[in-house]
Amino acid sequence: MTGPDRPAVPPGGAAGTADPGAGIHHGRLGAGGGVEARRFTASIAFDRRLYRQDLAGSRAHARMLGCQGLLPREDVDALLAGLDAVEAEIDAGVFPFRVEDEDIHLNIERRLTEIIGPVGGRLHLARSRNDQVALDMHLFVKDACRDVSAAVASLQRALLGQAEAAGDTLLPGYTHLQHAQPVLFAHHLLAYFFMLQRDKGRLVDAARRADVSPLGAAALAGTSVPVDPASVALDLGLGGTYPNSMDAVSDRDFVLETLAALAIVMVHTSRLSEEMVLWSSREFGFIEPADAYATGSSIMPQKKNPDVAELARGKSGRVFGDLMALLTTMKGLPLAYHSDMQEDKEALFDAVDTTLGVLRALSGMVDTMRPCPQRMEVALEGDFSGVTDIADHLARSGVPFREAHAVGGRLVRLCVEQGLQPGEVSEEALREIHPALNLEAVAAADPARVVRARQSPGGTSPERVAEQIVLARHLLDV
Ligand code: ARG
Repeated sequence: MTGPDRPAVPPGGAAGTADPGAGIHHGRLGAGGGVEARRFTASIAFDRRLYRQDLAGSRAHARMLGCQGLLPREDVDALLAGLDAVEAEIDAGVFPFRVEDEDIHLNIERRLTEIIGPVGGRLHLARSRNDQVALDMHLFVKDACRDVSAAVASLQRALLGQAEAAGDTLLPGYTHLQHAQPVLFAHHLLAYFFMLQRDKGRLVDAARRADVSPLGAAALAGTSVPVDPASVALDLGLGGTYPNSMDAVSDRDFVLETLAALAIVMVHTSRLSEEMVLWSSREFGFIEPADAYATGSSIMPQKKNPDVAELARGKSGRVFGDLMALLTTMKGLPLAYHSDMQEDKEALFDAVDTTLGVLRALSGMVDTMRPCPQRMEVALEGDFSGVTDIADHLARSGVPFREAHAVGGRLVRLCVEQGLQPGEVSEEALREIHPALNLEAVAAADPARVVRARQSPGGTSPERVAEQIVLARHLLDV
């Protein structure tokens, strides 16, 4: 019951560890006692998740020591075989994790030595846990950015699918949550597509900054041993090494940058979720969530709550919190490593898991929702959202736009006072508002015409939206 996915190490560690004080530090520190302190300082309950990264780093380090003539070939072979055995135990859920070995690095080293004997103790030459943990986090961040990017692409695919299916469906475009101008439903959905495209760009950038190996820093100052950090980086598929050993082990900017990128993803998914909640309300009725993405009420039989979107919206707070927590932890830390930095892991793991969960759930919800074009059309009726185009029409016939804007305003006021639509106002009354105002000008306010007229680049006309769809398809393919 001690596999990598088991939630926590039992208090006090595995049975048969009589002396919780004994361990790697036994040369300097007295044994015994301190159980509470060891539990408090241990990170094994959560950093066991880094075991694959840690083993990869150890294998590369062992090979480098061999190539540099710092370890004989048979020792390297023994270490590699031992590391494989450790991995097999962890994979099988039979690895004896111990709290008294503090973290994943010492747990693996202790078990390695148990399996292959004293040669296991040769692995840590010219290496510190400070470099190990930094390396593990670099490798984890690279993978996490790739996974989150793939999940972002799934949500984009769902949005694009709905946009393609939406055809020329219109709905009110809002500013200040007031009807502003009619837009194509596809245009609205694609706005989120392009936000998410930038999110992927930020994740690619964060992964690039993490594509560096800190191994060779040896705690902080470098080492007297002739190591070859560049070959280790190459072996691990990392793009380079740090030019400064103190920097290599004492910054977590690459984690902060990833958290920031995830937080921005969550801003976008939260806004989309909020729209899904609004749109599925009776007042809007623009979409009907699939039953699988809604829940009922324990008391009100009629309820169909857009739970998935609500939770997706709500979970943004956790990820923002993770970013704030690590920013605060790192602020004011003198160089080089401090145990404060151990706090980076839970924040990052939580943010990655939460963001992935939200993206996957929301992709399903967007993919399966049913848009209700009639409700969107009804929402446009009598909302005056085409009046900008009456002003534009007047401006084209020579009226200064400011004056044309006031004419539109006077027309709306008259309609509101008399309970009319612009098309119902008599020609005479129109002329009274302004000599250039006539039925032809008023016809420009028809929602479909308004949308068709928005031919400016990135605009909401069907042609411009079709271009956006082509671009979106291309961006998903590359
Ligand atoms: N468990 C530590 C962390 O997560 C790594 C060990 C750092 N080194 C040390 N001397 N405590 O950051």
